Amino acid sequence: MLNFTYYIPTVIHFGCGQVSHLTELTQSGKKVLMVYGGGSIKRSGLYDRAIAILKSAGLEVFELGGVEPNPKIQSVYAGVEICKANNIDMVLAVGGGSSIDCAKVIAAGALYDGDAWDLVTNGSLIKGALPIYTVLTLAATGSEMDAGAVISNDAIFEKIVTHSPFMLPKMSIMDPEYTFTVSPRQTSAGTADMMSHTLENYFTDVPGAVIQARLAEAILKTCIENGPKALANPKDYDARANLMWAGSLAINGLIKLGAPIPWNVHPIEHELSVFYGATHGEGLAILTPPWMKLVLEKDPSKAAAFATYARNVWGVVEDDDDVAAKIAIDKTAEFFFETMKMPANLRAIGVEDKSKFEIMAEKASKNVAGGGFVQLYKEDIIHLFDLAF
Ligand code: NZQ
Ligand code: ZN
Repeated sequence: MLNFTYYIPTVIHFGCGQVSHLTELTQSGKKVLMVYGGGSIKRSGLYDRAIAILKSAGLEVFELGGVEPNPKIQSVYAGVEICKANNIDMVLAVGGGSSIDCAKVIAAGALYDGDAWDLVTNGSLIKGALPIYTVLTLAATGSEMDAGAVISNDAIFEKIVTHSPFMLPKMSIMDPEYTFTVSPRQTSAGTADMMSHTLENYFTDVPGAVIQARLAEAILKTCIENGPKALANPKDYDARANLMWAGSLAINGLIKLGAPIPWNVHPIEHELSVFYGATHGEGLAILTPPWMKLVLEKDPSKAAAFATYARNVWGVVEDDDDVAAKIAIDKTAEFFFETMKMPANLRAIGVEDKSKFEIMAEKASKNVAGGGFVQLYKEDIIHLFDLAF
């Protein structure tokens, strides 16, 4: 296990009714910009509740609604403008990962003199941010407890992850009841996303990080057990609660530190979001089983890691690593595409032909150049898209 420093300043208020903690925003000043998506929080009643609590605490509320899934830089610009024009003290995201990511870059952009897109392409330019608060409504990205944000710029076909410790939320409210209204489709996509975060960390070449691996397996098993329960009964509180906390634990550093490895499936999926508007978790589910096959094709010695995954996560009883590895890949595909009813291939999410494989692979290859569980090159990524087609 390698050395690491772990620091998470985010206060988590988890559970039913915790939204009342919004009164604590007064510690950061008086003026709050509330950032939210396309209307789910208005339909669920959360919007009215949040506004009422904020106003009762004496806060002045400004709003940026309509943040789109795969949030665009234009939404960030709009938020930064509101912050600068009104001397906003803090930013509150109420929604899923898209609203939270947008709010994070707005909070950083509010203290930056240049173009906020600079902060997306180069997180080290972020030298400060307004305090960031979140009320999470979708268990998926873990953005409520991490330092990352993903912003798209359609004009130049880019979707980029930026990181800065300044973008770690100061406080996140996680009430599983707010996820009762999440659609079956987004429930599945969110479950696949947190499983992918876990798998990206789990398959590492750095030896000795045993506790991280066992924690990762627990997160995966929790998703496999509770994803189907949430689909069957969207108001199953404990299923929603376990998914929600699993989403945070998958990406808040606990399972990565000490055994870090560059992620590969995520940067490749981001090209599907850019070119086809793919829902992030669906793209990840489609790419994950073929990525596992590709890893084995390129480096058969990786079968041992997949066999451990088979035995510890899927309960596979099989002594032969090669056989166990293949069973694990089949089980992963079966879970995503049959149990969680997700689209099983690229055609099912609107990729009609292979015409963009080359350009997507070209771009993704730069983002995986830093390595991974196996090193992938442009031709490998084209092959991966072929396998996923
Ligand atoms: O926009 P609204 O109306 O709120 O509807 C949203 C949206 O249509 C809806 N939704 C959210 N909560 C709901 C709800 N519908 C009913 N009831 C609720 N309680 O769900 C749809 C998707 O929302 P979105 O926020 O886009 O989903 P998600 O949380 O999956 O976020 C995806 C974005 O996060 C990025 C992704 O790339 C993508 O852009 N990621 C961010 C990460 C991070 N910050 O660390 C890591 C991830 O790997 C990921 O890349
Ligand atoms: Zn993700």
